[in-house]
Amino acid sequence: MTANDPSPNHLQLTRDGQLRHFLTLDGLERGLLTDILDTADSFIEVGERTIKKVPLLRGRTVVNLFFESSTRTRSTFELAAKRLSADVLNLDISTSATSKGESLSDTLLNLEAMASDMFVVRHSQSGAPHFIAESVTPGVAIINAGDGRHAHPTQAMLDMLTIRQHKGGFGGLKVAIVGDVLHSRVARSQIRALNELGAEEVRIIAPGTLLPRDVESLGCTVEYDMARGMKDLDVVIMLRLQKERMEGALLPSEREFYRLYGLNQEKLALAHPECIVMHPGPINRGVEIESAVADGPQSVILNQVTNGIAIRMAVMSMAMGGQVAERQQKQSERGTA
Ligand code: CP
Repeated sequence: MTANDPSPNHLQLTRDGQLRHFLTLDGLERGLLTDILDTADSFIEVGERTIKKVPLLRGRTVVNLFFESSTRTRSTFELAAKRLSADVLNLDISTSATSKGESLSDTLLNLEAMASDMFVVRHSQSGAPHFIAESVTPGVAIINAGDGRHAHPTQAMLDMLTIRQHKGGFGGLKVAIVGDVLHSRVARSQIRALNELGAEEVRIIAPGTLLPRDVESLGCTVEYDMARGMKDLDVVIMLRLQKERMEGALLPSEREFYRLYGLNQEKLALAHPECIVMHPGPINRGVEIESAVADGPQSVILNQVTNGIAIRMAVMSMAMGGQVAERQQKQSERGTA
């Protein structure tokens, strides 16, 4: 599997530029990202109703395929699909035939034989959702729920929705992403989204051992000193130390990391007074963030979680719409041939 296809959009967009899979933010232009944010905005109100349902995916079957653990992403995809009136199947990988040696391709063929319309895929291998999108039956949409170190596009979009709600837009914003960028699919997608949406500066604050080799080429500046890096920030995004992906000793100790890069009230006071604090979760209190900050007045961490439902409703409904439009176009071309 590879995540290096330079033109993923031949897979994720229809010929007239509609979403039909959602695999990566690479190559997606500002207009489409703004459409996703605007569509999500229109779904926020659905979550505030007594009956939290719209019929956009009625009769459709969405399969959640999580080959890695998840709390927020899996739950909010499930709620989003249910609020769109889809039937939802959560495949329990630990008790599925995958544990008896069935390959990913065979598992998918069997799920496709049950007339599934959409797979939401989380996988430890970078490129797994891309690989599935290449081979899946036409008409079935693939949504990336996080693949290896490669991308977590719905997380980045829910983060963008949260920033837009609190800051009104992206122009002039200084945003820092702090911590373990090396292992973070979230950071890669966030850097891409912030640049495309027009943030003034995307700043990475991290020790050299937690930075990818070509980090500046992603579209960011780098600061190794947290006190200098916090200056003038409008948004600070903390990352979890991804110990499950670390090979070898990249840090002297968690305690030392917290001393140098953990966000506490003292360091937050160095940013703009209205700087918001974000974290994709799961948070590790006392490792990358102090409880007083995580639960404090500048934290929007739980708003991010709530916005995950609206963003996932937007992406799922847009991808299904793209699949339907593409099928109709092909039928009409066959009719006129
Ligand atoms: N942010 C995020 O992906 O969290 P989960 O691993 O709980 O889904």
